[in-house]
Amino acid sequence: MVFDFDKPIERSNTHSVKWDNLDTTFGAADVLPMWVADMDFACPKPILDSIEERNRHGIFGYTTHPDSLYESVIGWMKKRHGWNVAKEWILYSPGVVTSLNLAIMSFTQPGDSVIIQSPVYPPFFSVVKNNDRTLVVNPLIEKSGYYSIDFKNLEDQMASGCKMMILCSPHNPVGRVWTRTELDRIAKLCEKYEVLLISDEIHSDLIMPGHKHTPIATVSQYIKQNSVTCIAPSKTFNVPGLTTSAVIIPNPKLRMEFKKTINRIGIGMSNVFGMVAMEAAYTHGESWLEDLIIYLDDNINCLMEYLETNIPEIKVTKPQGTYLVWLDCRALNMDGKTLHKFMINKGKLGLNNGLDFGPDGEGFLRMNIACPRVTLEEGLNRLNKAVKAWRNSNNQKDSKDI
Ligand SMILES: Cc1ncc(COP(=O)(O)O)c(C=O)c1O
Repeated sequence: MVFDFDKPIERSNTHSVKWDNLDTTFGAADVLPMWVADMDFACPKPILDSIEERNRHGIFGYTTHPDSLYESVIGWMKKRHGWNVAKEWILYSPGVVTSLNLAIMSFTQPGDSVIIQSPVYPPFFSVVKNNDRTLVVNPLIEKSGYYSIDFKNLEDQMASGCKMMILCSPHNPVGRVWTRTELDRIAKLCEKYEVLLISDEIHSDLIMPGHKHTPIATVSQYIKQNSVTCIAPSKTFNVPGLTTSAVIIPNPKLRMEFKKTINRIGIGMSNVFGMVAMEAAYTHGESWLEDLIIYLDDNINCLMEYLETNIPEIKVTKPQGTYLVWLDCRALNMDGKTLHKFMINKGKLGLNNGLDFGPDGEGFLRMNIACPRVTLEEGLNRLNKAVKAWRNSNNQKDSKDI
């Protein structure tokens, strides 16, 4: 491995959402934060170099999106995902959550129904509700830790007049990389019931060995013309603080509506550093990403082995994509809030509460394993400590019962 992902980098006192203000977030300053989805790795050198070079110029005036930026997005989508994207299909937005809001504002009216599939990244709920649209949830089906889509329920929901579906592909937090067959079924239902599909593909570059991401816009002509695909270098290259993402809309009418909303809100201009970083990432970041995926996969294997050996009460299905692990802690028999607090108090471990991803996240915790191996090991030791405390208190209860 050429790149050094093993070296811990101090992130405290950088105004990091993940690492700073832990007492406010978790009620304890000494927790190890393994929650919000950014990585504890420095981004690849070509990104740092591009920012430094742009910085040396010293003037950061209003800037257009250069052709070279479009070409980098086109090149990346072709090389990594086999999708031939035309330049005119690409728009830019500060972030994927912004794009989801823009899509809802552009293509639906207050009161319209929008489908999401839970458990899912919390803003999927809020973007619908905050825009006064009607939230329709199609819970994923979980069988022995494997999540799949309830197509029967999805069809009923679409048939009842839903206008839009927001797809999380790959799916945070359950780590599913949807197969071409699954995507094809979604696309066919969208066609049958004229539902516009918004596909959040922010995790699409973080695919574990043996799996393949398919951009849903490539599965049929219909869905290509009736979908909006949101991508970003932010998860892939750890640059979410540079707030720059892209939106791909092949249909000119939809694109015009989306662009109108961008202009109405006044967010058509991108951040100078975000643009150079995006271009450098998509042009020169591939070898770093390939090493990163190997490192993340090793981290996941390390976690699974540790849990099997030391904490059999907590079950994990290996994620097919993303660096987020969905810990099934239902055997600990605690409600979501108590479970989350328990890990903070007994393990000094800061994880995401599964309940934040929907009611079907009860009894689950989400752990972010995009960190150096030593940090992961420390996190696992803390998890173990908490579960040992749980076993001890259970044993005490049992002996009292006797
Ligand atoms: C599925 C998904 N979409 C969007 C985002 C955030 O995107 P952005 O920071 O570009 O708004 C995340 C971050 O974790 C995510 O998991």
